[in-house]
Amino acid sequence: MSENFDVKLDNKSHLPEYSYIDNTWMGRYEPAYRRFLDDPERFWSEIAHELDWIKPWDKVLEWNHPYAKWFTGAKLNITCNCLDRHVLGDRRNKVALIWRAENDLEERVMTYRQLHTQVMRFANALKNLGVKKGDKVCLYMPFVPEHVVAILGCARIGAVHTIVYGGFGADALNSRIRDSKAKIVITADVSYRRGKAIMLKSIVDEAITNAPSVEKVIVLRRSNLNVELIQEKEVDFYEIMEQAENYCEPEEMDSEDPLFILYTSGTTGTPKGVVHTCGGYMVGTYYTTKYVFDMRDTDVHWCTADPGWITGHSYIVYGPLATGATVLISETVPDYPDPGIWWKIIEDIGVTIFYTAPTSIRMFMKYGEEWAKKYNLDSLRVLGSVGEPLNPEAFEWYYRNIGKSKCPIIDTWWQTETGMHMIATLVGEKMKPGFAGKPIPGIIADVVDKDGNPVEPGIGGILVIKTPWPSMMRTIHNNDERYRQYWSGAGGYYTAGDLAVKDEEGYIMIIGRADDVIIVAGHNIGTAEVESALVAQEPVAEAAVIGKPDVLKGQSIKAFVTLRVGYEPGEQLKNDLIYNVRMSLGPIAMPSEIEFVDTLPKTRSGKIMRRVLKAKEMGLDPGDISTLDE
Ligand code: WTA
Repeated sequence: MSENFDVKLDNKSHLPEYSYIDNTWMGRYEPAYRRFLDDPERFWSEIAHELDWIKPWDKVLEWNHPYAKWFTGAKLNITCNCLDRHVLGDRRNKVALIWRAENDLEERVMTYRQLHTQVMRFANALKNLGVKKGDKVCLYMPFVPEHVVAILGCARIGAVHTIVYGGFGADALNSRIRDSKAKIVITADVSYRRGKAIMLKSIVDEAITNAPSVEKVIVLRRSNLNVELIQEKEVDFYEIMEQAENYCEPEEMDSEDPLFILYTSGTTGTPKGVVHTCGGYMVGTYYTTKYVFDMRDTDVHWCTADPGWITGHSYIVYGPLATGATVLISETVPDYPDPGIWWKIIEDIGVTIFYTAPTSIRMFMKYGEEWAKKYNLDSLRVLGSVGEPLNPEAFEWYYRNIGKSKCPIIDTWWQTETGMHMIATLVGEKMKPGFAGKPIPGIIADVVDKDGNPVEPGIGGILVIKTPWPSMMRTIHNNDERYRQYWSGAGGYYTAGDLAVKDEEGYIMIIGRADDVIIVAGHNIGTAEVESALVAQEPVAEAAVIGKPDVLKGQSIKAFVTLRVGYEPGEQLKNDLIYNVRMSLGPIAMPSEIEFVDTLPKTRSGKIMRRVLKAKEMGLDPGDISTLDE
């Protein structure tokens, strides 16, 4: 897609009756934004002062394009803000976590005091295994309370966690373990999805066969399957906890020490290990949880993501716990045991803030509003959306059927790389279906041409962030060159890889990705990873993968494949290729369609032109094809 194009703007807007709009933490959008512009460093330092630091900072920001250091010289431990601060204050016996099992038959509740103790014990258990500050620990776990304990346990001792979503397959897990050089892998015997058990441990067994960095595997045995553990290498989650001390001194972390690495799909080769650091990430996620969601002490927060994605890191774990919220966590999917399950949970628990993805909302639309009508959703007061554009039809459905036309819909645009919300419609501000909203106070975003000049409202362009923010990624693990590329296009601003358009009032609509990342049901899938999983199979000579619009998933994956001599196209081969991608990368990266072709369109330098395939597939003009090799 070229960066300049016209977009039809629909100016339908909503203003909900919302009684406390002037009463949010920082007040209305305009004055808060002006306060930020007047003195950005003061703005961020006032927020940071609400949190506990072992030692305060010397400077709020050191900016040496494209490298930022935030709260330099400060010392902290993020778990002190997520746990100790509440336990020592007046939230000791407040519920921190409520967990619902996938089959909805089991519930577990943990107070801040209990979570604190579990985290410290687990942290000590890691220490007993020889884990030290800076060591990498890979988590490949089902979404159970122990997952949160393991995350915070790492942070307590300064181990860098790298979480891999439990839906990924062995090869995807292997490449992430190898890139991060993880010393420990934490997993479980099984995770459950739609009533089926997924044998996580056996996927780990396969993934670590050629990953020499791994010294120990910690296994949470949650079912009664009595999974055998290999002596020396494998240890039981609760056994090592039982042997550990109750109290664990928080490791003193520098503001700029890494907190975690999270892999996100890239356009080329291996996935990118996005590195986030302690101080800035803590401030950014605390601030946005509190302000963007209007989080209050009485709120029950439910973000339906998985901890394996950035949304889970920032808005299940770190942000909400830093604010001292009660956090609902659940292993459930939207339609199992039936499509009313999420509404039932909201009614049971009394969820007040609900944060989900457009793909789930579209799935609910398909099943019809009767499911939601069966339950009392009066407790809800704020609804959020993330992951891909919330199309106006889905917005309307969500607004009427779930929010009963009284809850604001907070669309939030951000990325693994940004760590926190960047563009959003804040509680109490005018909502425009189809638009994510405006840059939040603290963020300067714009839509520009390839030289970085702002484009007129109504004209599409490149979405950029112009100035640094506390929770920005600091580098790409093992690939700083790739990090610098984010800040090297469009006039040296941070380019997000998204195309967008602005309207007269400054609201930003996200059009889609400018690169080869496909967003399937809210999950970023890199074309490169799927293509290599195809090419790794004997019959395949070459493969090119594109995203196709899909009513439910937003996009689905279509692969074009050329075969080696001696192989014939056929249904069986198609199924085999799809099955093997599923085994290697996991169900989320599985193509839903394969087309056998004789050749793939390429540039003269041999790069596959996915854009040409995509245009042809959709009956569109392929645009500039001057570089296409005849
Ligand atoms: C897309 C998820 C439109 C976008 C937090 C971005 C969105 C990518 C929105 C990052 C939104 C995320 N509206 N598009 N509200 N939120 N995206 O790293 O293309 O998994 O660049 O982070 O998702 O995906 P990631």
